Amino acid sequence: MQTTRWHAFPDAEALERAATARILTSAQAAIAARGAFHLVLAGGNTPRRVYAALAEAPADWPRWHIWFGDERCLPPAHPERNSRMATQTWLSLVAIPPTQIHVIPAELGAGEAARRYAAALVGRGDFDLVLLGLGEDGHTASLFPGHDWGREETAPAALAIFDAPKPPPARVSLSARRLSAAREVLFLVSGAAKRQAVAAWRAGKTIPAAAIVPDKGVDIFHDLGDL
Ligand code: 6PG
Repeated sequence: MQTTRWHAFPDAEALERAATARILTSAQAAIAARGAFHLVLAGGNTPRRVYAALAEAPADWPRWHIWFGDERCLPPAHPERNSRMATQTWLSLVAIPPTQIHVIPAELGAGEAARRYAAALVGRGDFDLVLLGLGEDGHTASLFPGHDWGREETAPAALAIFDAPKPPPARVSLSARRLSAAREVLFLVSGAAKRQAVAAWRAGKTIPAAAIVPDKGVDIFHDLGDL
């Protein structure tokens, strides 16, 4: 059963400011407690301005480790690659060691990339913070309705998807199980187009976003007014 905490913000800018502050606070706490901060990035467009704000923020970058919640099977330099957006807006501008930026090698094809990413995650323990978006159909990362979300304890850490309804069809996604192995999970949900998915989520419908069940629950930052 998923525990949710809904946080309303007046507009996208306020949501982005709060998300940036939350990420920096989580990083400080993780570094103080364990000497490192393992962060999973959300794809899509919603986090773009948060990543750009992080590029301007003071942080102990050499202690940050970046993972990706999902990736599209496109060439690394393709404008629709999640890793390209994060790199251009943020990661290329701060001193996180390249060996600590774990890009999903999705250009190798969904099957091989999922295998390699799962192998890279062996022995890595819980993420400190997982960022996720929400699709209009309730998807998150590349876990889509009607597909296998990898919820069971035996699910692999990374899944190969070949028929995603959101282009491109071939993708790699962390499984619901692996995304749930996190100290904190923060969803960033902005824009009226997400209203129907949020209503389904709050009505208890079985959407992919509801399959992310970390022990301490999930926080959802939104700008959708009174829900
Ligand atoms: C992807 C994302 C996906 C995204 C949602 C929301 O690769 O497409 O991982 O899960 O987070 O579709 O996308 P927007 O933020 O662009 O609305």
